[in-house]
Amino acid sequence: MKLLATGGSGFIGSNFVRYILKKYPDYKVVNLDLLTYAGNLENLKDVEKNPNYKFVKGDIADKELAEKLVKDADIVVNFAAESHVDRSILDSAAFIHTNIIGTHTLLEAAKASGGKRFHHVSTDEAFGHLGPNDPPFNEKTPYAPRSPYSASKAAADHLVMAYYHTYNLPITISNCSNNYGPYQFPEKLHGLFITNLLEDKKVPVYGDGMQVRDWLFVEDHCEAIDKIIHEGKIGGTYCVGGNCEKPNIEITKKILELLGASEEMIEYVKDRPGHDRRYAIDFSKIKSELGWEPRTSFDEGMKKTVEWYKNNGDWWKKIKSGEYLEYYEKQYKPLRIRE
Ligand code: NAD
Ligand code: TYD
Repeated sequence: MKLLATGGSGFIGSNFVRYILKKYPDYKVVNLDLLTYAGNLENLKDVEKNPNYKFVKGDIADKELAEKLVKDADIVVNFAAESHVDRSILDSAAFIHTNIIGTHTLLEAAKASGGKRFHHVSTDEAFGHLGPNDPPFNEKTPYAPRSPYSASKAAADHLVMAYYHTYNLPITISNCSNNYGPYQFPEKLHGLFITNLLEDKKVPVYGDGMQVRDWLFVEDHCEAIDKIIHEGKIGGTYCVGGNCEKPNIEITKKILELLGASEEMIEYVKDRPGHDRRYAIDFSKIKSELGWEPRTSFDEGMKKTVEWYKNNGDWWKKIKSGEYLEYYEKQYKPLRIRE
C-alpha cells in the first residue's frame, strides 16, 4: 500500500504517519507538506530515515506536483490545512488557498488518475455550534460553519462529496472533534497553556471560559482514520469524537493541577469574535459500523500530554522563539515541478 499523506508534518498528520509506519511495516508513506509555520520536520525526526517514508516539500495546490504524487499513490489522506480559527479571523486568504483550492487540486488529481481512493480529514466545526441542550452533531447534521476556518473546511467537504456524486470518486470524510496530545502547535489551547505555565507565564482564557469542546486524544483519531481508510463505506462520512465534553475552564484547571500551578495564573481576556459556544459529537455510526471508539480517558490523555511537553522543551522552545523556521529554510528547498 502506498499512502500519500498531505500535511504530514503538522500535529495530527505527523501522529498519523508515525502510527501507520509502526502498524503497517510494509506500507510506504509519502508526506507532502508545504512546511508553513505549522509544519515542522522535527515532528517526524524519528522516522525520517525509515526507507518506507519519504518527505516532499510542496503545496497541495500545485497541480503538477499533486498529479504526480497522487498518481504514484494507492490512497490519499488529506490532512493539509490552515487549522487555527484565530488566524482565520485575522486573515483568511491562506485558508481559502489551502483548504478549498488545495483540496480541489487534490480531488482533480485523484480524478485524473482514474479515481484514486481519497480520505478527507475534516472537523466538527463545519456543523456550526450548539446550545447547552442541543443534541450532539451527527452525520445528518446540516452544515452551518461560523468562522472563516470552518467555512473553508465546510466548502472543502462539499467539494469532496460532490466528486463522489458526480465522478464516483471513492471518497470518505471524517468530521472529528478537538484533538490534543503530543506535537500540537503551541498556539492551540493545550500547547499554549502548558508551555506558558512551564515558562511561568499566565494562560489567556477567552471570555468566561465556559465554551465547551469535545476532546479526543490524537492517537485515537489516528486509529479512527485507520479504520475508515481500510473498512469505511465509500461515499460515507464519519463523525469522530471523544465522549469528553468539557468547558475550557475545566481543561485550564486540569492543566494547572497537573503542573502544580495556582489559579492566579489564569488571565481572563477579551473573547474571540463569533466564538462557537459548544461542540459535541455523536460517534455511534463509526462505533457500530467500524467498531471504533475512543480508548484514552481524559485523565490519561491529559497526563500523557502534559508529560510530553515537559519532556520536549527543545521542540516547543524552538517554535516559540521562531528558530525552527530559520532551520528549515536552510535545510530544504521547495520542490516545484515547474522549476
Ligand atoms: P496543523 O496546522 O498542525 O498542520 C497542518 C499541516 O498542513 C502543516 O504541516 C502545514 O505545513 C501543512 N500545510 C498547510 N498548508 C499546506 C499546503 N498548501 N500544502 C501542503 N501542506 C500544507 O493542523 P492539524 O491540527 O494537524 O490538523 C490536521 C487536519 O485535521 C486539518 O485538516 C484540520 O482541519 C483537521 N482537524 C483538526 C482538528 C484539531 O483539533 N487539531 C480537529 C478536527 C480536524
Ligand atoms: P483552539 O485550540 O483554538 O481550538 P478551536 O477554536 O478550533 O476549538 O481553542 C479551543 C478552545 O479554547 C476554544 O473555545 C478557544 C479557547 N482558547 C482560549 O480560551 N484561549 C486561548 O489562548 C486559545 C488558543 C483558545
